[in-house]
Amino acid sequence: MSADVDTTYARFAADQAYREANDAFVRRLPIESCVRILDLCCGTGAVGQIMMARATQASYVGIDLDPIQIDLAERNFAGLGYAVHRIATPEVALPLPPGRRVGLIVGSATDLGFPPASFDAVNISNAIHLIADKAGLLAAVARVLQPGGIYSFSSGFYAGCWPPVTQRVYYEWLKEATAWIARESAERVARGEPPIRRQRGRSQMSPVAYGNRWLDPGEWRALLAEHGFEVRELAERPVVFDRDSLAKVGSYSGLAEAQLAGYPTEIAAQALDATAGLALRSAGVDAVQHNWIEVVAARR
Ligand SMILES: C[S@@+](CC[C@H](N)C(=O)[O-])C[C@H]1O[C@@H](n2cnc3c(N)ncnc32)[C@H](O)[C@@H]1O
Repeated sequence: MSADVDTTYARFAADQAYREANDAFVRRLPIESCVRILDLCCGTGAVGQIMMARATQASYVGIDLDPIQIDLAERNFAGLGYAVHRIATPEVALPLPPGRRVGLIVGSATDLGFPPASFDAVNISNAIHLIADKAGLLAAVARVLQPGGIYSFSSGFYAGCWPPVTQRVYYEWLKEATAWIARESAERVARGEPPIRRQRGRSQMSPVAYGNRWLDPGEWRALLAEHGFEVRELAERPVVFDRDSLAKVGSYSGLAEAQLAGYPTEIAAQALDATAGLALRSAGVDAVQHNWIEVVAARR
C-alpha cells in the first residue's frame, strides 16, 4: 500500500464536475465591478481564482485555517501571474498595494479583524457547513462588508443535499471502506505488523463537518434576513459525481476524517478512494446526484 496519498483538497478541487459547479456558481455572482474580495475558507483558491477572472479590477484576500491549503493557494495564484502576499493577521492585511494583488492569511473565517466595511464582496465556498457558529459568521461578514456589498456562499451540505439514492451510496461507501480497512489490517497482521486501530474521539474534523445541523433553504433565508442581508438569489444545483469524482473527494482528509473518524487519516483516505466504485456498484448506480445550495445576498 502506498503511503503517499494526496489528502489535500487539491485533487478534488481540480475535478471536472466540481469545477463546473464552481464555475456556474461564480457566474451567478454580481462581482464584475468589485474591487476588494474576501474569500473565507479559501482552500487552494479554486473558487477564488474563478472569482478573480470575473472581477477583473479586484484584489483578493483569502483566509484558511490550514497552512497546507494556503501554500497550495499561493502556488496556484502565483502560477496565474498574481502578485501574492502572505499576511500574518487580518489586522495587517489592508490595504494591499494597488493592482491585482492576492493576500493570503492562515486564520479563522470567524475571526475577521479587518476594519469595518473593508470589502465589497465576501464569499465562502464549499465550507459554510464546517462553521458551527453561523450567526457569529454572518455577524462578522456583515461587519467587514460595505453596505450594498455582496455576500455569497455555496455548499454541498445542507438539509436537502442528498436524494435518497445518494444516501444509499454513501451508506454503502462507508461499509465498503470499513471492510477495505479490515482487509488491509488483516494483511498487516499476517506480515507481522500491528493492526490498524480505530481511535474514537480523535478526529478534529468530524464534529464540525457532520456534527453541525444542516440548515434548509428556508432556514438560510431567515438567518440571513436576521443578520441584515437581503437574499438576491437562492438556488439548488444538482451536481453529478461519477466514480472518479467520488474517489477524489474521498481522498480529501476533511471528508476522510469525517466519514471514518478515528482511523489514521491516510488509511481512511485510501479506503474511500479505493472503494468509491464498489459503493456505486453496491447501490446499483453509475453516479450520484449531490445538490449544492447557492446563495447570493446583499448587505443592507
Ligand atoms: C472543502 S474545502 C473548500 C475550499 C475552497 N473554498 C473551495 O471551494 O475550493 C474547506 C476548507 O475550509 C477550511 N476551513 C474549515 N474551517 C475553517 C474555519 N473555521 N476558518 C477558516 N478555514 C476553515 C479548510 O481548511 C478547507 O481548506
